Amino acid sequence: MNTERSPQLVFLVGFMGAGKTSVGQALSRRLGWKFEDLDDRIQTREAQTIEHIFRMAGEAAFRIAEREAVRELLAEVAASPRVVALGGGAFANPETASLLQGAGFPTVFLDAPVEELWRRCCEQAFERPLRQDLDQFAELYHRRYPHYLRAALRVETGGKAIETIATEVANVLDLG
Ligand code: S3P
Repeated sequence: MNTERSPQLVFLVGFMGAGKTSVGQALSRRLGWKFEDLDDRIQTREAQTIEHIFRMAGEAAFRIAEREAVRELLAEVAASPRVVALGGGAFANPETASLLQGAGFPTVFLDAPVEELWRRCCEQAFERPLRQDLDQFAELYHRRYPHYLRAALRVETGGKAIETIATEVANVLDLG
């Protein structure tokens, strides 16, 4: 692993359905670190649901709120070691990605075949504003893919159990 600082903060990157939240929770239990979902921070800061922000203010406003949440989180870094699940579009947004990369903490891209990502999302009870049909979902995934590849590390999650993925992430981070 090649990062400028010893990781007190790890960012999980990837598309909708990549398992950023469930793997992040498993990884944080394993490391004894806190877990944070960036979408939760956005909702708290904005006092609105993600869906409401998209519906009332649109994606551009959401991306600004997302970036401000990243900025706030990075300013709190000393507080406690943390595993952070980013929303699926955060690392695909060049300004937010450069904030994250500039902070020097490891970023791990959780990947899976797009059909599996779609299936996982379909099994979840909540809706996502940017998930419509499989064609749209796959097109967005492919458009974002080159951005995700800029993460420092990549872990393939297809067909794997959450705990197995968390172990692999800990290992690639030299935290296993
Ligand atoms: C988004 C993914 C969501 C959430 C928002 C936008 C995206 O997070 O941030 O709906 O642009 O892909 P998850 O990846 O956790 O679903």
